[in-house]
Amino acid sequence: MIRVRKAQRSDRPALRRLIRATDVFNPREKAVARELVDAALGERGEHPDYKVLVAADRGAPPAGYICFGPSPMTVGTWDVYWVIVDPGRRRAGAGRALVRAALDLIRARKGRRLLVDTSTQAAYRPAQALYECLGFCPVATIPDYYRTGWHRVTYFKRLSS
Ligand SMILES: CC(C)(COP(=O)(O)OP(=O)(O)OC[C@H]1O[C@@H](n2cnc3c(N)ncnc32)[C@H](O)[C@@H]1OP(=O)(O)O)[C@@H](O)C(=O)NCCC(=O)NCCS
Repeated sequence: MIRVRKAQRSDRPALRRLIRATDVFNPREKAVARELVDAALGERGEHPDYKVLVAADRGAPPAGYICFGPSPMTVGTWDVYWVIVDPGRRRAGAGRALVRAALDLIRARKGRRLLVDTSTQAAYRPAQALYECLGFCPVATIPDYYRTGWHRVTYFKRLSS
């Protein structure tokens, strides 16, 4: 059974392995993903801007993680920065469990909106399907944002009025 919990500092090596193993990110994207994990799991305790939850069976290395946080210049709008599931453990519900757990935490903190950007590249189709199955709607497209032909799509979910 998939269990989602807060990431701990001791999860850092496993999260780095997950980032390394992810097939869709380029080296710069992987470096940014690592930076956010390091910031979120730094020595000063919980980071105000970055939260990380992991999906893991008891005692097993994490199957995936989600990094998200409140958008600093808003009241109650949150962003998902990364959600990654180990390529060998996909389609088993870990991604859905991670986003649902993030939604629960955001609701508990009176969050109103959740946004996530993704790319129109074929490699990100699973990410789009994941957000759509959880009731996110595509609300904006920036043409050629990542590079010519690779558009940015923003998915949106309303948590309260
Ligand atoms: C996107 C990602 C996190 C999904 O994780 P996952 O654990 O495989 O997703 P789940 O098993 O929870 O799938 C939930 C639902 O999403 C949809 N979905 C997920 N992967 C899909 C795929 N490859 N094709 C079609 N639908 C898919 C389905 O509706 C699925 O429900 P179902 O299995 O009951 O049909 C994973 O594919 C991944 O790590 N991709 C690479 C990193 C990435 O693109 N991250 C997002 C941008 S930061």
